[in-house]
Amino acid sequence: MAIIYDEKEQVFMLNTPNTTYAIAVTDETYLCHLYYGKKIQDSHIRYLLREDELPFVPSKNFREKNTFLDTFPMEYPETGMGDYRQSAFCVRDAEGHRASACIYKGYEIKAGKPKLPGMPATFAEEDVCSTLYLHCEDPVLGLRLCLMYSVFEDVDVITRSVRVENIGGNPVYLEKVLTACLDMADQSFEWVSLCGAWARERHIQRLPVGYGRQNVASFRGESSHQEQPFIALATKGAGEEEGEIYAMHFVYSGNFLAQVEKNAYGYVRMTMGIHPEGFTWKLEPGNEFTAPEVVMTYSCQGFGKMTRTFHELYRNHLIRSPYLHKARPVLINNWEATYFDFDEKKLLEIAREASELGIELFVLDDGWFGKRNSDNCSLGDWKVNREKIPSGIGKLSKEINALGMKFGIWVEPEMISPDSDLFRAHPDWAIQIPGREITQSRCQYVLDLSRDEIVDYIYEQIAEVLRNAEISYVKWDMNRQLTTIGSAALPADRQGELYHRYVLGVYRLQERLITEFPDLLLENCSGGGARFDPGMLYYSPQIWCSDDTDAVERLAIQEGTAMLYPLSCIGAHVSACPNHIVGRVTPFETRGQVAMAGTFGYELDVTKLSEEEKEQVKEQIQCYHMYQELIREGDYYRLLSSQQMQRADAWMVVDREKKKALIWCVTVLNAPNQDGFFLKLKGLDSEKIYRINEKEYQGDVLMNCGIRIKPATKDFVSRMFYAECI
Ligand code: DGJ
Repeated sequence: MAIIYDEKEQVFMLNTPNTTYAIAVTDETYLCHLYYGKKIQDSHIRYLLREDELPFVPSKNFREKNTFLDTFPMEYPETGMGDYRQSAFCVRDAEGHRASACIYKGYEIKAGKPKLPGMPATFAEEDVCSTLYLHCEDPVLGLRLCLMYSVFEDVDVITRSVRVENIGGNPVYLEKVLTACLDMADQSFEWVSLCGAWARERHIQRLPVGYGRQNVASFRGESSHQEQPFIALATKGAGEEEGEIYAMHFVYSGNFLAQVEKNAYGYVRMTMGIHPEGFTWKLEPGNEFTAPEVVMTYSCQGFGKMTRTFHELYRNHLIRSPYLHKARPVLINNWEATYFDFDEKKLLEIAREASELGIELFVLDDGWFGKRNSDNCSLGDWKVNREKIPSGIGKLSKEINALGMKFGIWVEPEMISPDSDLFRAHPDWAIQIPGREITQSRCQYVLDLSRDEIVDYIYEQIAEVLRNAEISYVKWDMNRQLTTIGSAALPADRQGELYHRYVLGVYRLQERLITEFPDLLLENCSGGGARFDPGMLYYSPQIWCSDDTDAVERLAIQEGTAMLYPLSCIGAHVSACPNHIVGRVTPFETRGQVAMAGTFGYELDVTKLSEEEKEQVKEQIQCYHMYQELIREGDYYRLLSSQQMQRADAWMVVDREKKKALIWCVTVLNAPNQDGFFLKLKGLDSEKIYRINEKEYQGDVLMNCGIRIKPATKDFVSRMFYAECI
């Protein structure tokens, strides 16, 4: 049984294959966090709460209830009654007071996992997952709170969500509904997050946890380039294979807060949920609100195990696409080849050459619609630009198909250009505050997707394009973040709902798209990698990782991204040099090998390649076909990181049977007068014999002595090795 309630101890034990999460009921009233860590059998662990120590607990020491609330490990802390740490829940009542005290009322344990209304969430069959529902009520507010914990039996994950129900007679205003809180005694923790900016997303940051609050957060309306909805606490010195890690990841694509707080007594609180800034939700009597899902995992084998747990969860329980376990076509995208400067003839020239090289999918990027010859117009006018493409998208797609390639198209459905027929007809459809200038970003505004009629309209525009052409792939872009938050359709006391309603609108649109076009390969994108989050993975099996296609910058971006996401999700392309963003020149081979650690493709003008480069393209495609299944399905191990001042960037994937492995090793800047080195592999079978480049090695030799990496003779040298068990 994954979930056990010890009635005598009043302890809930939530067991995954290797972990236990335990919750206790204190004073028949409070839900307190008891334990999270390595799996334990016995539920007699109530002593961990030290309830007999003063000043705890209220039934023994009511005069110090405030101290109890402010220091006890709480399962779901609330605002206003005496816990001054970051709360998870804050309600304003009809009179303007901000306090709640939801008292434990009872529990249910059910097989399976509930769906979250209108939101992405992990899923599982009833035989591998069960859910604990903890019911609490605040009689003063007339509020019912349900804390939901789904426990997986095939992967070390517990997911959480919270449902709030107004069972009283008055409306209340939810000002904060975080999803998860984890209170623990400090263990010299460090906290880890993935931070960055446009073109340098998801770099790994690791800092000591000090007193006070430290957080990563987005209130940009999307998860963002700058922040990833992820936070982990690691015991000091934790590495790839050793040390304890407590991690949370948010299955959500909008504003979020992921915070760690250390209090005066050395207790640490980790919280995650929708960012309370800019959030208020009016809950009328009889209505419910559900918070998006948080995924929690614990690893006592360092970051490597954490990574593989996330990968397993997302592959088996989040991504729904029929492409999940299928070969992805090698694509060519015309963006960096032409930007807006193309016509049908040019596109067909590129496609013709690409098909001769073995590329399987041609993607027409931005600039095919309205009057769009630069980024300053036409978003919202989803009709083909006949000046550029006289025969239309339907005919073009057929011509591409006739070359033996599939056809894909770029769209940016969430946006509206000030210079567009759509904006001229519906100026109130843009998110805006009346009387205030709408802040432009990339010369565009954001559609108010909280409104059903706008979602319906824009869906129909995009679906019409897809219905009338042979389109097997869509790149869904989103090129700006949200500002001047206001909706013409929401009353004053509901404007605080717009950020979240917008995200729900995006989810509605994507759900409709993949329902009407179930065979579509959808790739999400947001100005590169600004919406690379688990929420998006529920709709698309791959996400464009970054606008930065430089192979060296990609090492850092892809290392950070792969910390949480399987390689099969990471959009990666070979582009031209000097690289358009950093001006760096790297070998064609290196660009190819780095892009192979993702959904391999090209983003350059193949008609301009030299004969030698064309030969390399053919070889790279052949190589990708050979290893694509291993890259897509294999277990991922980080080996070396140049971000951490190691000699190279190296990583590998190993199949489930440990019979095959693919290893990458990329040295960045070459250094003079240096010996080669030995790269120790991971995840192999110590007993098995593997062949690498005609030589045989035992698994334990490869893992303990390593493979030989000869000194590089120039900068940016990439090497790939294939190991097969004999
Ligand atoms: C941002 C994307 O990340 C690029 O790949 C490209 O599609 C442009 N937008 C097009 O405007």
